[in-house]
Amino acid sequence: MTVTIVDHPLAQSILTMLRDRRTGQIEFRKGLVRLGRLMGYEVARSFPVSEVEVETPLGARARGVRLEVGDVVIIQILRAAMPMVEGLLKVFPMARMGVISARRREESHERGSMDFQIEMNYVRIPRIGRETTVMIVDPMLATGSTMLAAMRAIEERGEPGRMILINAIGTRQAVERVLAKKPVDIYLAAIDPEINEDGYIVPGLGDAGDRAYGEA
Ligand code: URA
Repeated sequence: MTVTIVDHPLAQSILTMLRDRRTGQIEFRKGLVRLGRLMGYEVARSFPVSEVEVETPLGARARGVRLEVGDVVIIQILRAAMPMVEGLLKVFPMARMGVISARRREESHERGSMDFQIEMNYVRIPRIGRETTVMIVDPMLATGSTMLAAMRAIEERGEPGRMILINAIGTRQAVERVLAKKPVDIYLAAIDPEINEDGYIVPGLGDAGDRAYGEA
């Protein structure tokens, strides 16, 4: 169970661009792709490597390493996670993919509450076993309600050996809420100090799905 803030200056400058209200749809979406890729590099550090030896074109032997990623399933929470997943797939191209289409029911949300009812319209999760590492991607870990619902849906499919959450921004409340349920590893570019009465992260970056794809 770890919480890692990806503080690479490139990740932080992309995050700043994403937060800026003047950033348009195309730049926003491209920024999320780049952030997903950078976060993937950080996640890759947590996998073991094995020592290997190869022969170079000069006929010489060179010692090196091979990253042992094993069986990876990436689950994207539609639609906001799609750009980050595109970046992440550059790092883990062998991953199997699952999707969860989830929506916070804002109409039934009690102002100020951390609890949203989650409407899931479509869930497609590949086979999961003890040997599987599941990465759940959602740019905004605001209250944790969507993430907890996604984790429940994944557990119905199988018990993975490891679960990793990959988020651009989270709140401490959501991180604690998720960790109280399950010892997952969480990667974020930032933990923001506040959540407003409507469940939006402050300062945050607004509605990630709307900014990446236009207002729904
Ligand atoms: N979802 C978003 O897109 N933004 C937030 O701040 C919270 C949830």
